[in-house]
Amino acid sequence: MDKKIIYSGIQPTGIITIGNYIGAISNWLKLQDDYDCIFGIADLHALTVRQVPAEYRKRALSFFAQYIACGLDHEKSILYFQSHVAEHTELQWILNCFTYIGEMQRMTQFKDKAAKHADNINMGLLDYPVLMAADILLYQTSLVPVGIDQKQHLEITRDIAVRFNNLYSPTFTVPEAYIGERGAKVFSLQQPGQKMSKSDPDPNASVSIIEEPDSIMKKFARAVTDSETVVRYDPENKPGISNLMVILSEMGGMSFDEIERVYGDKGYASFKKACGEAVVERLKPIKEEYDRLMGDKEYLLNVAKEGAEKARRIARRTMQKVKRKVGLVEQ
Ligand code: TYM
Repeated sequence: MDKKIIYSGIQPTGIITIGNYIGAISNWLKLQDDYDCIFGIADLHALTVRQVPAEYRKRALSFFAQYIACGLDHEKSILYFQSHVAEHTELQWILNCFTYIGEMQRMTQFKDKAAKHADNINMGLLDYPVLMAADILLYQTSLVPVGIDQKQHLEITRDIAVRFNNLYSPTFTVPEAYIGERGAKVFSLQQPGQKMSKSDPDPNASVSIIEEPDSIMKKFARAVTDSETVVRYDPENKPGISNLMVILSEMGGMSFDEIERVYGDKGYASFKKACGEAVVERLKPIKEEYDRLMGDKEYLLNVAKEGAEKARRIARRTMQKVKRKVGLVEQ
């Protein structure tokens, strides 16, 4: 591969939301032509939380279909399941030996998830960022397009890479996070102070990228705003309206100026309707393609198989290098 490498992924939990789309996938689509991109379904990561096996298998495949339906192209990029490439966990083990427990205990996501799943604080939850570091470092990744919530995981990935490189001579490319200027954190439609989460138990808080138009329109109509009547970008004092402006501008291609000019004093109802319509319009072709793809499971599995083979070839090269450097006997 000659071009710089991009790596990113999504855990198959809950639903792929418009937050994931705006914060991550829309940037992946932009990068696809200029970089060698690898996009994984992080299906080992999501095992840190209990999953119902039959549902989990279906959801992971559905997420894979959604990747393709969004426009990720398996002829340009590598699309695959993390669990199909055993090198991820192999590298994770070695990187575990270069990561300190204290570093993992300090991770915000670990602390949040440990509080949320107090009855299941398993080793995987603590070790989650090391698997993510392995995902990224395995492919000599330069750039990792993610939302702002993954920034800390990127920082620890860089620390681990630098630590290893300093001990054994340059082995891993030290990656950088690629975080969009706007939309790096899309907020809940019900609690605009909180991130829109793919596993929010309140269905009105988030919108799936394959949701029915009626349901999307209802959710925007119900979105929490404020007691004023003016549409103006002011995230501190008007978090609900500002979040909707980000969604409308990212999904409908309107600038903030334009939004303020057109909807500024028309009242919230017509603004919210416009947001819903822009989202429905943007998602329409994705939903259609998704429905078609889900009727062809064999095609999806073939794309995944081909993706895993390509990924494995790159992963093996890194593993050979890593094993040699740490002093394992060659095969
Ligand atoms: P995950 O599955 O939670 O989220 C997938 C991507 O969506 C971004 N994102 C958001 N962006 C804007 N607004 C939001 N409300 C929002 N919610 C989520 C996330 O930042 C992410 O980019 N650990 C990762 C998956 C992963 C990964 C990797 C990512 C596994 N291995 C290697 C990059 C590189 C995760 O749980 O993302």
